[in-house]
Amino acid sequence: MNAETEQTILRRNQKYLRPLIGKKLPERLEKQLEKLDWTALDLLRQEKQERGQFAPLGAMEREEIARRRGGLEQTGLEALRAGKVGAVLLAGGQGTRLGFDKAKGMYNIGVNRTLYIFEQLIENLKKVTTRVRAWVPLYIMTSEKNDADTRWFFREHNFFGYDPESVHFFVQEMAPAVDFEGNLLLESQDSLAMSPNGNGGWFKSMLAAGLGDDLKEKGIEWLNVFAVDNVLQQIADPVFVGATILSGCVCGAKVVRKCDPYERVGALCLEDGHPSIVEYYELTPEMAEAKDEKGTLLYGFGVILNYLFRIDRLMEITERRLPVHIVERKVPYLDEGGNLVKPEEPNAYKFEQLILDMVYMMDDCLSFEVEREKEFAPVKNAAGTDSVESARALLRQNGVIL
Ligand code: UTP
Repeated sequence: MNAETEQTILRRNQKYLRPLIGKKLPERLEKQLEKLDWTALDLLRQEKQERGQFAPLGAMEREEIARRRGGLEQTGLEALRAGKVGAVLLAGGQGTRLGFDKAKGMYNIGVNRTLYIFEQLIENLKKVTTRVRAWVPLYIMTSEKNDADTRWFFREHNFFGYDPESVHFFVQEMAPAVDFEGNLLLESQDSLAMSPNGNGGWFKSMLAAGLGDDLKEKGIEWLNVFAVDNVLQQIADPVFVGATILSGCVCGAKVVRKCDPYERVGALCLEDGHPSIVEYYELTPEMAEAKDEKGTLLYGFGVILNYLFRIDRLMEITERRLPVHIVERKVPYLDEGGNLVKPEEPNAYKFEQLILDMVYMMDDCLSFEVEREKEFAPVKNAAGTDSVESARALLRQNGVIL
């Protein structure tokens, strides 16, 4: 350990690291400590950032989409055929709520047959690629925890019929976890407890992996970013692509109508004039229940983690730092005696950057309504809402044989 890091640890009273002071550290731990951004830990002592002034953002609703469908779709199909659209699958999460210890995409959602989540997503994308007769470049973000498994899984299953040349993997960054007093946790004698740093750093990680050149060479202008856990996810949807292009916005977001004013989803809106997402717990009852003259809730369109970003605009914001969110999680760690503790309750803070904060950095965003029953079946939990069971029911409803 270098003298400076030692001093930092001593100064910061890092209780799990103190026994290591003055000793030769294992190489892995030494590297982690050297690279560590200690300023991130200072966030714990900072006041919560105030939000700006919220205002409603009207959506392109389903009725309008149906009316204009032909023209929107035509524009989208042309962009797809011209190779201007790439897709980014965010698959670096740990899926702790599901309680599955591999990458979430490796989960078998089938009942009488095998149907992996990754496979279902590729099937959804193939509906478009078959139609346009061109592969859509697919970039898959993994984390250090699941990268090797994910790559192996795709190879093992022949990329589920997708073109291997059109698939690129890249690895996201990791961040340390700390206990509630701000002490770094060790997951083993040679490593800090590290976890993926949220889904907000995806574009930076893509560029760090050298994929900026690939985007340029291929002439890709738009990236459709989506979550691994929505098995009804419609990827590179020509109507959505066309609508965003024709809207003139630099970004588009698929949204679903809230089931009720208090549904626990983030709603797309404006914040100080920027597109933004207001969390359900940030809405006052007056805001939650406010309606327009047609009876539509003003904060009634929830995001489903399916965004389209214009790349030139993404390039312009890469230098800007995204806010860091602090979340409570259960993180296994070595106690001061070196014994592994697996907590039953949240015991630690993790630091995450979120894709929704990128939306705020865009000048504008098309809010594009989709039908929940056809496009939104998230697999978040093992049981109950947004679970394997609810997603299976929705898949069946959409004619997928399980
Ligand atoms: P979630 O917010 O549901 O997180 O991710 P998660 O890690 O998958 O699940 P929990 O909260 O531990 O149960 C939404 C999307 O963002 C991706 C996930 O893979 C999912 O597609 N994600 C999340 C990342 O790619 N990296 C991260 O660090 C976090």
